[in-house]
Amino acid sequence: MIMSSRSFLEYRAMFALEERDLDGVVLDCAGGASGFVAEAGTRGVRAVAADPLYAHGAAVLSERLSAGLEQGDAMIDANAERFVWTWYGSAERRHELRRAARRAFAADIRRRPGSYLAAGLPRLPLAARSVDLVLCSHLLFTWADRLDQEWHRAAITELARVSRGEVRIFPLVRMGDGEPVPFLGALLADLRAAGLSCEVRQVPYEFQRGARHLLAVTGSRTG
Ligand SMILES: C[S@@+](CC[C@H](N)C(=O)[O-])C[C@H]1O[C@@H](n2cnc3c(N)ncnc32)[C@H](O)[C@@H]1O
Repeated sequence: MIMSSRSFLEYRAMFALEERDLDGVVLDCAGGASGFVAEAGTRGVRAVAADPLYAHGAAVLSERLSAGLEQGDAMIDANAERFVWTWYGSAERRHELRRAARRAFAADIRRRPGSYLAAGLPRLPLAARSVDLVLCSHLLFTWADRLDQEWHRAAITELARVSRGEVRIFPLVRMGDGEPVPFLGALLADLRAAGLSCEVRQVPYEFQRGARHLLAVTGSRTG
């Protein structure tokens, strides 16, 4: 799976974040090279990231990230008509944001290693209701070709367990072809039947054509 790097600005748009959303503790899972957590630190926002790749040292992370950024660019080139550039303005601006996010992550994981948890879904070593907001970018749904409906159900249930507030997931389409995930409707029905509240909301960000929605999930307030 590709390791990628996104910035605070991209997260703010993808997850329709407002100042008040960032008052509490935010979990970025899967963090990747989380420019979001790195920049959150400089803004006084309490954020932590979880990703199984953090178990590796800086050299492996850097190698995986370089390979990931190359693969990501190649995938965009191969599917050029499926992307819109309005939000970024240009390919160069997107590269700039990625490079800056990558640099910020590399510095921050050295400075604040405790903000980066080596852990993977569908089981996180975090107590129930221990964070206020969970953000999940480009893992769920993006990789639906290899992570099935049952895995998604388990992963979202776990993210809802650790959150006192919402779990926000973006995007809701597959990588590459940007097609809707075939099991999305059935998955939402399963989650609702299990007592989770699920809402699809439009966001002020689009890169994969038509991917303009996040999924917000909240767990039972009594659980
Ligand atoms: C495409 S990257 C997305 C990273 C970041 N959220 C972003 O938007 O740039 C996908 C990330 O998911 C991580 N990952 C893979 N399996 C995972 C799992 N079971 N639980 C959590 N993260 C996982 C990978 O290591 C990789 O860093």
